[in-house]
Parts: sequence; C-alpha cells; structure tokens
Amino acid sequence: MLGLLLLQVLASCLWLGHSEVVTSFGSCHGFFSDRIPPNNALNPQNPAWICQHFNNSYHYATLYDRDRRIPVYSAYKYEPGPGNRSKLWYAEPQVGVSPYSKDIDTEKSIRNRYKITLQQIGQSQAINQDYNNLQGLDRGHLSPSGHQSGNNSKWATFTLTNIVPQNSALNKGQWNIYQSKTMPQHTKDCTTTYVITGAVPGNTYISNNRVNVPSHIWSAACCQTNTIRRTWAVIAENNRNQVQNLTRSQLEGNLTQLYGRGQVSLFHSACPP
Ligand SMILES: *[C@@H]1O[C@H](CO)[C@@H](O)[C@H](O)[C@H]1NC(C)=O
Ligand SMILES: *[C@@H]1O[C@H](CO)[C@@H](O)[C@H](O)[C@H]1NC(C)=O
Ligand SMILES: *[C@@H]1O[C@H](CO)[C@@H](O)[C@H](O)[C@H]1NC(C)=O
Ligand SMILES: *[C@@H]1O[C@H](CO)[C@@H](O)[C@H](O)[C@H]1NC(C)=O
Ligand SMILES: *[C@@H]1O[C@H](CO)[C@@H](O)[C@H](O)[C@H]1NC(C)=O
Repeated sequence: MLGLLLLQVLASCLWLGHSEVVTSFGSCHGFFSDRIPPNNALNPQNPAWICQHFNNSYHYATLYDRDRRIPVYSAYKYEPGPGNRSKLWYAEPQVGVSPYSKDIDTEKSIRNRYKITLQQIGQSQAINQDYNNLQGLDRGHLSPSGHQSGNNSKWATFTLTNIVPQNSALNKGQWNIYQSKTMPQHTKDCTTTYVITGAVPGNTYISNNRVNVPSHIWSAACCQTNTIRRTWAVIAENNRNQVQNLTRSQLEGNLTQLYGRGQVSLFHSACPP
C-alpha cells in the first residue's frame, strides 16, 4: 500500500518540473537587479546557464560549473511566503546530456524517459548518490526554499544544480540565522530585493572526486525601498559556524581575490557599493 502510494507520488511528479539550459540567462534576466547578471569574472571553464523552471514557470537562475558539479551561484528575488518543502530531489536533464527536451526532473524519470543511465545523467552534474554518506556536510541550498513563496517555487529549489556540500554546523547554525533572521531584518522596508548566493570552489571533493566542496559560501543583496537602494553582503568559510558581515564592495574584493579571474562585479552600479 505504501509502495503504491509512493509510486503515485513519484508518477505525479514526473511531468511537473523542467528547467531550461541556455547559453546565457536569456529567459530569466528578471531574477537579476536591473536585469544584469554578475560579470564574467565568476564564470568557470565549463559553465551551464540554467533558468530554473518548474511546473510552467521560472523560479530563479543558476550558473553551474559542470566540471566541479556544483553551482557557482543562484540568483533570485527574495519573496518569502507559505508553502511546503519538497520531499524529492531533482536533476537537470539538459546539463551534459543533450539534446534531450527540457522536461522533467527526477533521476528515475529521466532514466526511464530517455533510456539513459544514472552514469550518463551524472556526467556533468551531481546526482543523489553523490550526496549519500555525507560526513559533517549537508545539502546546502544556494537559493533557499525559505526565500520563495508557494509550493512550486519552493520545490524548484530542490534540484542538485542549486546545492553545494555545506558544513552542517554552518548550514544549521549561523547561515540559517542569516537566511531566516537577518534577511527579514534587512529587508523590512524593501519593496524588491534581489539576491545572489554563491560558493567558491575549494580544494577537496566528495564522492570519489566528483563533487567539489566549496571553501566559502557568500551572499549579496540589492534592495529597493520607496526612496533609495541599499546593499549588504556576507561570506562564510565552509568549515566553521561563522558568518562575516561585509559591504557589497568588500565582498566583491574578497571574491576577486578568491576566484582570481579579474575584478568581480555582482550588481549594476545603481546598487550602491
Ligand atoms: C502546478 O501549478 C499550478 C499553478 O500554480 C497549481 O495549481 C498546481 O497544483 C501545480 N501542480 C502541482 C501538482 O503541484
Ligand atoms: C505545509 O506547510 C504548512 C505551513 O506553510 C504547514 O502548516 C503544513 O502542515 C504543511 N503540510 C504538509 C503536508 O507538510
Ligand atoms: C502544498 O503541498 C502540500 C504537500 O506537501 C499540500 O498539502 C498543500 O495543499 C499544497 N499547497 C498548495 C497551495 O497547493
Ligand atoms: C551581522 O549583521 C546582522 C544584522 O545587522 C547582526 O544581527 C549580526 O550580529 C552581525 N554579525 C556579526 C558577526 O557582526
Ligand atoms: C573579506 O575582506 C575583508 C576586508 O574587506 C576581510 O576583513 C575579510 O577577512 C575577508 N574575508 C574572507 C573570508 O576572505
């Protein structure tokens, strides 16, 4: 009986999600302040630009690193609201294996629909088994479900293209406090807030060198009030439960150093430094 129920739940989820992998953020510039994504200084060697799409609408944007199998960043509008977390994890059929349609999402349904193996799905992205047997690490959301409103938008964050191996103490501790307490404080008078949350690649990997463990997790926001714009930012080392408050330009300075690919710019200049 339980098995049957599970099957039904799975089956009903087969056709819901689909994301779109594009060669820039064409369909989802709306998730960036002034429709301007960060400059190229964050781009990895082998990027995928993902417009995260689920049940007929776009929910956020992700720049994905196919080699390290983690996102570089996810960008979204901060719109916390009611809804439920997903019980399933999704994969992106188009990252790596093409030319499959942009439809669907669970590993199981991707395998069945396209008659491909888990190995093929996992060629350029993380799969569920990479995240089994984690030690001291969690599945850390870059675009968190708590900053989205409604089941569809919350569920859309449960794709591994939005996930990095994040220090458990940090994820459940100070990072969670930043997301659930500090963000509401900072955004009290904001009418619109755009957020970019990213991960700096580290020197260690999980799952047989398949998935990189970031050295740092960072986040920046640009808020529009009725009269002005404000920005703020944070960074955390991914091996301890501590979050540093920074200005936008301080964070950009840190990222410029950490990525080493030129001066990083996260927002349009209309968002103050
Ligand atoms: C898909 O989205 C629509 C519109 O928000 C909603 O009515 C419907 O319930 C969703 N489907 C599922 C199965 O969540
Ligand atoms: C869905 O979330 C609401 C709060 O947003 C909660 O009250 C409810 O119990 C949840 N339902 C399920 C089935 O998890
Ligand atoms: C959201 O999903 C939960 C199950 O997780 C369901 O109980 C609830 O009715 C859904 N809410 C809406 C508005 O569809
Ligand atoms: C960072 O800023 C938030 C909000 O202003 C504050 O609550 C928190 O204590 C600050 N953290 C540190 C480490 O200064
Ligand atoms: C980020 O830069 C600030 C100076 O702007 C510095 O104090 C801080 O230690 C740096 N943090 C990291 C994690 O690099």
